[in-house]
Amino acid sequence: MCGIVGYVGHRPAVEILLKGLKRLEYRGYDSAGVAFFMNGKIQLKKSEGKLENVEKLLNASEPPYSSATCGIGHTRWATHGKPTTQNAHPHRTGHIVLVHNGIIENYQDLKKEIITWGKTPQSETDSELFGFLVEREVQGGASFVDAVRKSFTRLEGGCSVVVMSENDPGVIVGVRNGSPLVAAIDPQGGAVLASDAQPLLDITQEVFFLEHGDVVVGTEKGIEFFDLKTGAKVQRAMTKIDWSVEKLDKQGFAHYMLKEIHEQPTALVDTLNSILDRAKTDPFPLALQPAVGILDKAEQIMLVACGTSWHAALLGKFWLENWARIPTHVELASEFRYRNPVIMPGTVVIGVTQSGETADTLAVLKQMRELGVPTLGVTNVRNSTVSREADAVLYTSAGPEIGVAATKTFSTQMLVMLLAAGYLAIKRSASSNKEVTKLFHDLVKLPMLLSQNLEEGGAWMQVIRKAAQNLYKSKGFFFIGRGYSFPLALEGALKLKEIAYVHAEGYAAGELKHGPIAMIDNEMAVIVIAPCDRWRDKTISNLEEVKARGAIIVGVGEEGDEKFRSLCNHWIPLPHASDLHESLLPFLVAPIVQLLSYELAVLKGTDVDKPRNLAKSVTVE
Ligand code: M6R
Repeated sequence: MCGIVGYVGHRPAVEILLKGLKRLEYRGYDSAGVAFFMNGKIQLKKSEGKLENVEKLLNASEPPYSSATCGIGHTRWATHGKPTTQNAHPHRTGHIVLVHNGIIENYQDLKKEIITWGKTPQSETDSELFGFLVEREVQGGASFVDAVRKSFTRLEGGCSVVVMSENDPGVIVGVRNGSPLVAAIDPQGGAVLASDAQPLLDITQEVFFLEHGDVVVGTEKGIEFFDLKTGAKVQRAMTKIDWSVEKLDKQGFAHYMLKEIHEQPTALVDTLNSILDRAKTDPFPLALQPAVGILDKAEQIMLVACGTSWHAALLGKFWLENWARIPTHVELASEFRYRNPVIMPGTVVIGVTQSGETADTLAVLKQMRELGVPTLGVTNVRNSTVSREADAVLYTSAGPEIGVAATKTFSTQMLVMLLAAGYLAIKRSASSNKEVTKLFHDLVKLPMLLSQNLEEGGAWMQVIRKAAQNLYKSKGFFFIGRGYSFPLALEGALKLKEIAYVHAEGYAAGELKHGPIAMIDNEMAVIVIAPCDRWRDKTISNLEEVKARGAIIVGVGEEGDEKFRSLCNHWIPLPHASDLHESLLPFLVAPIVQLLSYELAVLKGTDVDKPRNLAKSVTVE
């Protein structure tokens, strides 16, 4: 979704804006632009397409922009109006120039009103309208900051803006009510604002996350916060970010996605360390945090999520039911929020969202809070909106995930749900202590096992690359599995569609003969996920059915399972089941389906880290 950066201070503003916008590219965008003060006037450079187009415009411009020390920039993910240069941000209305992220729901009413003032918006966007409101407030006698504040109170829907005025050089004003906005003081004197903390890390790790209804004013002296409704000054607490700027680089990998797949062992260790109470010796000792108190009281759990997070939730259901014996339901947030569902007393609703900003998931949590239902969030982004909407949060510690395709955040989401299941299993004596202890010991071994397999000389990289080379021209792909492997089949297919733009479906293996088997012929590839678990034999029968119809088979199964292997055109081995509890196999299968999709996408030549039409955090419904 849209990205915002604003800077004022003593450094070259345009460089900071461009670097910051590059750090936000992962969010997805289809046009971009910057605005900056030069000799007391604001200049705009914007273009459809990638940021490089804006850079070209800047390089061709006179006079050079390097002396500018105040500006705002934007990457736009089109909602209202096509992704054209005219609709790109920043937008100018008279002396007001602004960038906007989110949706102005009452834009049609505002537009009608603005037209009655004799004004004509130049773009198809809702965003541009805000400039007319600010201009009118200023004409009515309000100061620039107050005009932004008052105008913002007229907007319906969740959004954030950052605004400059040609009459007030050296001032940037931001407002947050919905879409996130983060601010920081430049230690060299100045202020920087952005849609998330990543662009700020080049300047400082000490940041302020704006609350809903905060106005922030940045000048070369620093930042001040005000209340949106009253205009009164407010104080906000500083947060020290522990993500270093180095973590935002590719570190020698061809793509962020590949790097992030390889970071899964570390992400799992970091998440274990951050959630477990290391002083305890019992298995699954969740550190005492508010989330634990809420989990303790759960008689029923409802996991709500979108996309990959929904797949992680499907696995969470398995673990919570199997180990903790808690009835668990999994819901797509976009469906659930409009369904008027029955929520039984004792239910805890858990929103699973790596970004912490997904509009549908947040909407469910909000609804539940209004109904008095206890809520939890599972997220990777500290201080993201979910931490405000949920009663408590369990954080994954995957570190920054830049690739749009979720990889290490998926694995760490699974881990959090497994940890919750194991903790509740012990607390409620729902499973045998011996079994849960074995599970925990195996879990601790898991990161090392993963690393060994992920190494270049390990079991996976070469065979996956080879399979991809033979398969990438296939007409279509099915991922099939049963039990734990079914959500992974869904995830494999989603990954492949998302980054390789090919037709792929994830299916419960037993469902194939209820329709989709009609699609199978010798141009179709079927990825059969059948580790040696209680579902293996049934899945192999389904494999035989597709093989008989000519499909090219990729098997993901236990090393040494020669029967299964002999049925496959390509074979990707999993470590021996004796090394690991079957509940943990999803952690090994996840990187395999991610890598296979990655290699296929590379062969297709797509933009792996920034797939077309997608955004990393989906802040609109
Ligand atoms: O931030 P969230 O986990 O709430 O995002 C939900 C989906 O948009 C997300 O998982 C999406 O499906 C992934 N990019 C897929 O890789």
